[in-house]
Amino acid sequence: MTELTITEVGMRDGLQMESVFVPTNQKIQIGLGLIDAGLQRIEATSFVSPKAVPQLADATEVISELRGRGATLAALVPNPRGAERALEAGVDELVMFISASETHNRHNVNRSVAESLENIAPMAQAVADSKRSLRAAVSTAFGCPWQGNVSAEEVARVIEGFAAQGVGAVTLGDTTGMATPPIVRHLCAKLAEWFPEVELTLHFHNTRGIGLVNVIAGLEAGITRYESALGGLGGCPFAKGASGNICTEDLVYLAAEMGLETGLDLRRLINLAERMQEILGHELSGQVMKAGPRL
Ligand code: HMG
Ligand code: MG
Repeated sequence: MTELTITEVGMRDGLQMESVFVPTNQKIQIGLGLIDAGLQRIEATSFVSPKAVPQLADATEVISELRGRGATLAALVPNPRGAERALEAGVDELVMFISASETHNRHNVNRSVAESLENIAPMAQAVADSKRSLRAAVSTAFGCPWQGNVSAEEVARVIEGFAAQGVGAVTLGDTTGMATPPIVRHLCAKLAEWFPEVELTLHFHNTRGIGLVNVIAGLEAGITRYESALGGLGGCPFAKGASGNICTEDLVYLAAEMGLETGLDLRRLINLAERMQEILGHELSGQVMKAGPRL
């Protein structure tokens, strides 16, 4: 049976977009619930400026409470300062994010792409010394809300910067849901040709309603690693028009119906998404949590 590797990003991509600060103990309960539902990879928080993303200002506490409980904990880091904090907190996988498009990178981290690329070497060195791992996340890989189309060459420029420092795990982020099946097929084929050693993960947002269709296109391109968020939470606060990630329960339901193994317990995920809905006090966009699985 083909296995699908799912990284749950709701605690990071999801909570960064919410208008309220979810208390640390409630975040931890959600994290423990995810582990209980079978998640082995959780992107739990970000070590960015707390002025930029106050919702995740408790990153150190969240990591220290969820460490050593059986899941690989990942966290976003924008710069060497973030890497230092994440390493100190005990993050297993640091995820450095750079946009393929100049305008989104500027809005997101207040730097040009070239300036961000210069940060990779010191961060790769710090992570190598610590024996943790570094992942690349390329935002706006399928389109930019300011610049429109993003070419495969612009995405490759960022991947090259990481590959030159020995980083071979790359997430392609569809920040505002601009991916379509032809773009997914084209980009995945080009990157497989140019970077045969790189392991790609796809991170779709469902902003235009075709997130899971893009997963099918990714599967057809041979990609079995995806990121998704509980209840369909998510969005980048620094990208206009951003909205939720593809929903974890909906993805797990699709995978099960297609005979793909995820190792995740759909009922537990649905219960957890309902709990998240109560915590946040508004309806989440997930579909399977409302309709339930097939009888
Ligand atoms: P800046 O203002 O240019 O940074 O922000 P700076 O270096 O001038 O520092 C300003 C202040 O922030 C200083 O403090 C620094 O110490 C502090 P002050 O002297 O004013 O008291 N600082 C930090 N504090 C804690 N942790 C740090 C850190 N760095 C600096 N790491 C910066 C630049 C990158 C810091 C800022 O723009 C930032 O934090 N941005 C956050 C961006 C973000 O979180 N975006 C959302 C995540 S990306 C995403 O969602 C896309 C993704 O899901 C994929 C997809 O969907 O495509 C990954
Ligand atoms: Mg995202």
